[in-house]
Amino acid sequence: MQTSGYGASVEDPQLTARRVFSLIAPELALVEAEFERQARSNIQVIANIGDYLRASGGKRVRPALTLLSTYALGGDASRANVIRMATVMELLHTATLVHDDIIDNAETRRNRPSINSRFGNQTAVLMGDWLYMSAFETSLSERSLPVLDILTAVTRKMTEGELLQLMLLGSTDITEEQYFDVLRRKTAYLFSACCEIGAILAGGGEEELRALREYGLNLGTAFQLTDDLLDFTSFDDVLGKAAGVDLIEGKVTLPLIYLLEKSPSLRAAVQGVMREGKYEEVSRAALLNASEETGALQKARARAVKFAEAARGALDALKPSRYKDALNSFPTFILERET
Ligand code: IPE
Ligand code: IPE
Ligand code: MG
Ligand code: MG
Repeated sequence: MQTSGYGASVEDPQLTARRVFSLIAPELALVEAEFERQARSNIQVIANIGDYLRASGGKRVRPALTLLSTYALGGDASRANVIRMATVMELLHTATLVHDDIIDNAETRRNRPSINSRFGNQTAVLMGDWLYMSAFETSLSERSLPVLDILTAVTRKMTEGELLQLMLLGSTDITEEQYFDVLRRKTAYLFSACCEIGAILAGGGEEELRALREYGLNLGTAFQLTDDLLDFTSFDDVLGKAAGVDLIEGKVTLPLIYLLEKSPSLRAAVQGVMREGKYEEVSRAALLNASEETGALQKARARAVKFAEAARGALDALKPSRYKDALNSFPTFILERET
């Protein structure tokens, strides 16, 4: 078993996750309190939904990345402005989830009814907007044009990602290139922004900013690839959201792109599932079997592993520290996670 210079295992994913998150546990507790403050409102319905969202938890991956990036460059992530910006990143993520669940017709999120299913689509659209604006309002207090540049660009990209995805819905002709274009926009750039903003707040140099930007982009890509693999292979109760729904919603993700490449005869059945909105022409288990037998699943997983390695590689530019170690083990946690 490989051990880091600090004695903990970097191979056991559970331990890795615990180790990474325990390193910044006090700061993440401050992020929770700040989330509560940022989601506060005199308008009762907003306060209620804000509370519902905060209490439903989530892995808090994005604020963790901001905090670790600040520490990894020698900054102090317990400072109020870093906590504030880490929370802004989680608020932006939350806004995308609220809107994404409307678009995807998702009923469950984090093991609870999604905002759209609990409060209705109209309320969910407006709550998502409110969260975006609340996040931007808070970020203005940083008085940093570079930070605002990143935030506006990433928000635009996330919307573009969801729109492009919508345009590609139901298409079994989606290319790998189109798939990755959507993926980067909807997920990876936000990861990259979380890391780069953490670096900016630490006063990092151009080289360090570039390294963490690259790290985040590759890590975010591995993250969404894993999410798409989990949709393919996992179960509702484990994920806390519905599994197997990407195809039902018309989203052809990488495992399926590879499967169709290897077994073109499955195309009609796959189209049938999207058309009917249920696994009738071919069962979910049969698709999973076929993707294992053809190696499509392994091939998609290997891509995720490559992006995780690229993320680690980008960290070479950073000085050694236990925070760099934590960033270094983050990709393992992301690849091996079950939820
Ligand atoms: C879900 O993100 C949306 C994707 C980008 C796949 P997370 O898996 O980070 O969701 P929470 O915040 O932990 O619930
Ligand atoms: C992630 O895509 C979308 C966002 C960036 C919000 P998904 O649609 O796959 O995310 P989940 O599976 O609903 O969490
Ligand atoms: Mg979704
Ligand atoms: Mg998904």
